[in-house]
Amino acid sequence: MTAFARAAVQLRGVGDVLVADIDNPPVNALSHAVRAGLIAALDRLEADETLSGLVIAARGRLFSAGADINEFNADIEPPFLGDVIERLETATKPVIAAIHGSALGGGLELAIACHGRIAADDAVFGLPEVKLGILPGAGGIVRLPRLVGIEQAVAMIAEGRRIDASEALTAGLIDRIATGDLIGEATEMVSAAVRSALPRTSERPFPLFDAAQQDATRKALAGRYRGQDAPQKAVDLLAMAARTPVAEALRLEQAACKALLSTDQSRALRHLFTAERDATRVAGVDRETAARPIDRVGIVGAGTMGRGIAVACLDAGLPVVLVGRSEASIEAARQAISKIYGSAVKRGRLSETAVEERLARLETTPVLDRLCEADLVIETIAEDPDAKRAVISAIDLIVPERTILVTNTSFLDIESLAQATERPGHFAGMHFFNPANVMKLVENVRTKRAAPDVLVTLMAFAKRLGKTAVMVGPSEGFVVNRMLSKRTREALFLLQEGATPRQIDRVLTDFGFPVGPLALADMAGLDVLAATRAARLAAMSERERGADIVERLVAAGRLGRKNGAGYYTYGDSRTPQPDPAVDTLLAAHRAERGIAARTVTDDEVRERCLFAIINEGAKLLEENAVARPGDIDVLWTKGLGFPAHLGGPMHYAETIGLSHVHSALSRYAGIVGDEYFKPARLIEQGAAGDGRFS
Ligand code: CAA
Repeated sequence: MTAFARAAVQLRGVGDVLVADIDNPPVNALSHAVRAGLIAALDRLEADETLSGLVIAARGRLFSAGADINEFNADIEPPFLGDVIERLETATKPVIAAIHGSALGGGLELAIACHGRIAADDAVFGLPEVKLGILPGAGGIVRLPRLVGIEQAVAMIAEGRRIDASEALTAGLIDRIATGDLIGEATEMVSAAVRSALPRTSERPFPLFDAAQQDATRKALAGRYRGQDAPQKAVDLLAMAARTPVAEALRLEQAACKALLSTDQSRALRHLFTAERDATRVAGVDRETAARPIDRVGIVGAGTMGRGIAVACLDAGLPVVLVGRSEASIEAARQAISKIYGSAVKRGRLSETAVEERLARLETTPVLDRLCEADLVIETIAEDPDAKRAVISAIDLIVPERTILVTNTSFLDIESLAQATERPGHFAGMHFFNPANVMKLVENVRTKRAAPDVLVTLMAFAKRLGKTAVMVGPSEGFVVNRMLSKRTREALFLLQEGATPRQIDRVLTDFGFPVGPLALADMAGLDVLAATRAARLAAMSERERGADIVERLVAAGRLGRKNGAGYYTYGDSRTPQPDPAVDTLLAAHRAERGIAARTVTDDEVRERCLFAIINEGAKLLEENAVARPGDIDVLWTKGLGFPAHLGGPMHYAETIGLSHVHSALSRYAGIVGDEYFKPARLIEQGAAGDGRFS
């Protein structure tokens, strides 16, 4: 039997109105078949005298997510979206868009060229192209300001702001919100439009956008989107559209969008779009594997991490049983959680009622047996392997067979902890970052025997908590901390060699990080970092042990931001101020170690800090501690401030060239030491081969 592909645009008649339903799962992207289908609908509309007009609607959960991103890497085949839209706007019979779910990108451009728009009350509208490093190229820039004014257009085009149906109605983006049957009401709009002149969006006047407004907009966007080209280009194009006849403006808009598609920034942002979606999937696990339901969470350990995780779960609407060691510890936890919520109320982020509702879902108890109904239990006591094993065994005996047991650890050997349970298939790790209710990253840690659906459940659970999660394999420090520790090491070595804290931080913030590594260290607390170094001392090289700058700062009473002095001093403002006392301390450190300070160039600072990270990322890939280079990029851009328009460290390495990275690593191996900079095998192979991590 032959299987027929379903048409990407399906036509039906409702009275004398033709309804074209876009049907291109999963998100009704405007792929070639859809564009061709819409042209066919317009042909039919014009050819059939019995038809009074056309409604463009869609099947599935949304109207359209816009242009098909998968077509961006090759030459796009005609008919082009701009041409479809032009045909539609100039049709001689009314065309009405009936929007449900979302109308995004090209989907919205299509809708705003129709002669009228009606939307379901839960519809959302946006032009998210800028987040892909491009801009609307099918009339969005030329038409949108004519409907919603310049301010709203700037927010939507240059910042990717999405608006809901009621705001869209007030702004003039849509004409009506459906009160019942969306398609029925859309066909009524066709009938009404037949009796009046067809309103063409591009014939409306373009709003005022004078030079002063343009300057102010450029400045504001430059501050908010440092280093990103597309928001600035949006202002140029809006200014162009304000002074240029429509046909020419549409041509220039399309050409500008096409040019942006081939920029490194757009490639980087599109890479992240795909990488973020790939990262939600566990490598080697069937895509169809379903997550198990998690309706009740148990947390064992009522310290800082346990409390943070409890708040994250409560915020996600889950009931939580938090088990502490004693009545006193659970009382302290309750008070700490109330304090977190108290400050959320004070800052206007939560209402008293919302807090009450959350706290009503929290049970605190010293009794482990209370976990007997939990679907997922997270053990989060202190990082002592013996104590953790004992608690994991105790939980194992109490909870039902179906319960997934997770240990929250930042560096312990997960396979050895797995041996403490009789449920190796239902055991895995999660590495939350402190404070767990605030930090958006989670590393889920797979074990050899963890069941596929358990791993899938942990990914879904992290998503439910509003976190970006990546599945990592067992390895000391997992991915984030292992990579970060290399940047920290290089920062310390560079300070020893003659760089200053302000130089290192300036170079990395100029690169695009929101905060430099040393200002970040001050935020984390130098005493905390000194304690981490003390715990890792045995694993450090002699040179790393000798780079005891953090210890010296702590000994000098400089604990970081918390007491107003660390690598910098902090007066009344929170801005780090360089402090000559730190320069003196660094000079004394060098003198004691017999190191002659030299001039370190900004290029060397940038390359050593970044290439140390990239080299470690490559080693993690070699060890299978992380499945995809894109997973590393997601972790760094979502959680560690790596500039998204550079795509994350691994994508950045491929962009500047693995052969360049390889030769720089080899050079630094000569200067700093082979043990720190010997290029990873994957970089060596990529440099010699196709220039990619594969
Ligand atoms: N083209 C092709 N595929 C798309 C797509 C698009 N525009 N948008 C989403 N998808 C794919 C995703 O890659 C994903 O595929 P996989 O399952 O294979 O990974 C699938 O659709 C589902 O997407 P999500 O996982 O993101 O689903 P969601 O429900 O969480 O979100 C969404 C849906 C809100 C539409 C979200 O996908 C989204 O924001 N998409 C981006 C939309 C966008 O950027 N549009 C602008 C495109 S450029 C343009 O239109 C301008 C132009 O004229 C050149």
